[in-house]
Amino acid sequence: MAVEMTIQEYIHKRSEKDSFETAMFIYESALIQMTSRIEVLNRELSHVYQYNPIEYVKTRLKTPESIMKKLRKNGHNITIDDMVTYVNDIAGIRITCSFFSEVYFVADMLARQDNLSVIHIKDYIGHPKESGYKSYHMLLSIQVALADAVIPTKVEVQVRTMAMDFWASLEHKIYYKYEGNAPGYFERELQECASIISRLDAKMMSLNEAMKRIDGE
Ligand code: GTP
Ligand code: MG
Repeated sequence: MAVEMTIQEYIHKRSEKDSFETAMFIYESALIQMTSRIEVLNRELSHVYQYNPIEYVKTRLKTPESIMKKLRKNGHNITIDDMVTYVNDIAGIRITCSFFSEVYFVADMLARQDNLSVIHIKDYIGHPKESGYKSYHMLLSIQVALADAVIPTKVEVQVRTMAMDFWASLEHKIYYKYEGNAPGYFERELQECASIISRLDAKMMSLNEAMKRIDGE
């Protein structure tokens, strides 16, 4: 029977020389497991209900540079302990759906899965950020199954519509380009784009619902 243990305990047990690489291996395994769950969910919905709510899925592992930058920025130490405790988005997955009803549906289907728990949720769709940013964030803990250990590992899952994704990627580019000091009108224009996008999402979804109603009649 594999024993449940933390990332730190696993590293300690193996007395690894390069504990950072071992930690990253566990986060990468969490990404692989989570991605295959999402793929199975997508196939299940398609097979059983002829329903394809997921458009695309992107995964990324945070780089060592970016992990260190975040630890430093938040006043933590550059240690495995602080990284495991405070950096929640080392393993990151972004799921893009067509309609916002699907965002909640997919998030709920994932949250209800076995061998996984929800640490917290940030619903920036119900409560958008001041910038206009919208997305549904879940911090999950997934049981990574290794040969002789089971390791609960954090994965940040962001679920959003294609329109929200379009907005967020432009905003991200602008933010990086100007390092947070973009000309004032960019901020206003982006807020306006966010509100156009919300209306677009609502209209597209009601068209889709109308189509489903007609199909059902
Ligand atoms: P980070 O330190 O940025 O990870 O934020 P956090 O720990 O406060 O968590 P939050 O859930 O607010 O944000 C996590 C992630 O969501 C970020 O790393 C981005 O990928 C995304 N995000 C959050 N806010 C914005 C935003 O205003 N614009 C864009 N483009 N992305 C955002
Ligand atoms: Mg982040």
